[in-house]
Formats: sequence, C-alpha cells, structure tokens
Amino acid sequence: MTERETWATRAGFILAAVGSAVGLGNIWQFPFKTAEFGGASFLIVYIVAALGIGLPAILAEFVIGRKANLNTISAFEKLGYKEWRVVGAIGLFTGFWILSYYSVVGGWVLRYIGGSLTGAYFAAPAEYFGQVSAGMDALALHAVFMALVVGIVAAGIEDGIEKATKLMVPSIVVILGALAVFAFTLPGASAGYAYFLSPDFNALSENFAEIVPFAVGQAFFSLSLGMGAMITYASYIDGDQSLFGDGITIVFLNSFVGILAGLVVLPLLFAQGIDPNTSGAGAVFISVAGAFGDIPGGQIVGLVFFAVVLIAALSSAISLLEVVVSWAIDNYDVSRPQMAVGLGGVIFLLGVPSAIDTAWLGWFDTLAYQLLLPLSVLGILVFAAWVYGAPAIDELMKGSGLGEGVGLTWLWLARTLVIVAVVATLALGLQTLFLGESPAIIPPL
Ligand code: PHE
Repeated sequence: MTERETWATRAGFILAAVGSAVGLGNIWQFPFKTAEFGGASFLIVYIVAALGIGLPAILAEFVIGRKANLNTISAFEKLGYKEWRVVGAIGLFTGFWILSYYSVVGGWVLRYIGGSLTGAYFAAPAEYFGQVSAGMDALALHAVFMALVVGIVAAGIEDGIEKATKLMVPSIVVILGALAVFAFTLPGASAGYAYFLSPDFNALSENFAEIVPFAVGQAFFSLSLGMGAMITYASYIDGDQSLFGDGITIVFLNSFVGILAGLVVLPLLFAQGIDPNTSGAGAVFISVAGAFGDIPGGQIVGLVFFAVVLIAALSSAISLLEVVVSWAIDNYDVSRPQMAVGLGGVIFLLGVPSAIDTAWLGWFDTLAYQLLLPLSVLGILVFAAWVYGAPAIDELMKGSGLGEGVGLTWLWLARTLVIVAVVATLALGLQTLFLGESPAIIPPL
C-alpha cells in the first residue's frame, strides 16, 4: 500500500473544511430562517449555538481524525476502541446516504446555469422547476454532477481536493460579495436588509422552543458534522497546528458565508417585490430564480448566482465522497481513482429514486437529518468526551499554545451541555420523523 496522503499546507486543510461546511445549507436555508426567526436576534442565538455547541463538536471530530490518521471507521480501532467502529460506520453511512440526493440537487443547479443563459425559467419559474427537478433530465444531470465529484476526489488529497478548494472557497466569497454589492444597487433592496437583519425579540421569544433546536441542528449540519467528513479531513493533517484555531476559523467563515448569502438573496427578492416566505429548494429555484427574470442583466446575474451555488455544492459533495474513498483505500489494496469511480457509481445508483421523484428525495433527507446525523454526532461526542477523555485533551492542546484550562473547558462542555443539546435534537428529530412533519433541508415543494 502506498503512503497515506497529507494536506500540503495548514491553509489547505482549513479551506477544504470550509468548502465542506459551506454548502446549500448556507445559501438556501440560513438566510431565510434567520429572517423568519428574528433577524439579528436570531443571529446571536445561532452564533452562541455554533461556538458553544458546534465548535466543541467539530473539535471532537478533529481530535479523532488527527490522532488516528485513519479513515472514520478504522480511526476508532487505531485509538484502541475497536467496538466503537460502529460509530464511524454510522457516520460513513450517513455521508453516503446524504451524497446520493445532494448530488441530485447539484444536478438541478447545473441545469439552472444553462437555464439562466437561455432565460428558460424566467417566465414561469415554478413550472420550470417542476419539470427539471424530476425525471430523466434530473437523472442525467445527477450523473454529470457525480462525475465532477469523482473527478476531483480521484485526483487525490493534495492534487485534487486541496487544489480545488483553494480555488473554490475564495471564489465563493468573492462572487457572493460581488453579488451582494450588485443587489445593494437595486431599487427597493433596503427592505430586504430590514427583513433579514432587524432584531425581532418577539419572534425570538415566542418561538424559542423551536428556534434553539433549529439553531443547534443547523450548526451541526452546516459544519458537516456526523457525516465522517471532518474526521476524514482531519486525518490528513500532518503536524501540530492548533485544532482550536482551525475550528474557530472554520466556524467563523461558515457563518460569514451564510450572512453574505443573505445579503444577496433577500435584497434581491425584495427589490423584485417577491415575498420570501419560504426556504429550502423553493426559495432558491423558484423565488430567487424568478427575480432574475426582471432585473437588468438577469441572465448573467442568474448564471453567476447558480455558478456560486454549484461551487458551494461541489466543495461539500467532495468531502462526502472522500469519506468512503478514504475508508476503502485505507483498507483495501485498490487505487484511489478506481475507488472514486466505483463508489461514485454506487452513490449515483442510490440517488436514482431521488432523481426520478422528489418525494424520495424528501424522504432520504428527512431520515438523514432527523435520525442519522444527530445519532452519529451523539456517538462521536460520547466517544471523544467520555470514553477517550484525557488523551483527547492532549491531542486538542497539541500545538495550540493554550493553557490546560481551555482543554478542560472543552471536555466538560462536550460531556454535558453539548451532549444534552444533541440528545434534544435527536428526540425532536424522532418526533418529527414519526409525527410526519416537513423534512429539513428540502421542505415539501
Ligand atoms: N455543510 C453542508 C451544507 O451546508 C452540509 C453538507 C456537506 C451536505 C456535505 C452535503 C455534503 O450544505
């Protein structure tokens, strides 16, 4: 077996992790939910959740990955806890499952890039979405998206993922920034800022019981936790950089991109007098797309917007394929490109029902979001904080230059508050699953 790869630079790891974190969740969920749940006052709740709960959880994944330098399943065995491999297996399965339908959505985005150029969706955005989101076209574009993901992952850690995300993540920030400036110039945009960010403590306090778990769940999903991605990416770190510093940078950049996306989509919708009372797929593919029909240069603006959505989706998707590819090449004597193609093919097949019928997509998403993700995060936290414990603190503090107090704070937060928050999310998820409420990232269309 050849030597295991590593990231060429620390920035390479951080950008790859940010690429995984910044995805559809930031663009089509975060801005709309922020507006709905109290604007700036929700942002405070979200940032507290991301730093107080998301950060300790992402650090737990980093510790496991870097200490073991192995894929998300074998890592547990390497650390001396063979039975805990089941936790890694749940994460790996979750990533596999999510990628199957995420790729279908990636295919829709590809379609919309072409549709922007020709103006195909301008006249009747809802009908257009209905036509392209299911059936043979969706299937073909799901294949194209998956092929792009396979291409990047097949090229390897340093030459594939690191090089790609080094280009992709800055592009996301620059393009969204430019679009935000453009949206600012549209007449009527200011109502969008008011809707997005004005603090509404009433909305916050009235729905507190719904908002807090949402903020926690969103922080987990948005930071790509519970899918094996962060364990896998951290396993390619070669060196004693501060995991703590990396974690804070990633949490910060991820929230920043969510806010930036809000500064694009909400002013754009308000300038066109479109009511953004929806989130999820409908918001981006119908409402925002509808706005492009009426603004000057809408074809180009639409193209650029969907291009940035594509980049965000791709840089997330590669992190999920890498989870399984990493496991396969750590354990079997096969080449990375062969495995990327083979496993990409299997994931493509798993996504076929979602491509043919969006009802399947909703079902896949609900199961992942409400059950698999929180279960996997819970297993990782219990392992890192309660089972592994003291060596985890050592690994976390390595190269950080911080005092022991920080490590202990992490351990106790992870042991208590964070686990309670995950259990609550899981309980709510199960309730949603069995009482049949709407799924998470892809609400009913
Ligand atoms: N963090 C991603 C997002 O916000 C979640 C994700 C990662 C989804 C990887 C799929 C693949 O979209």
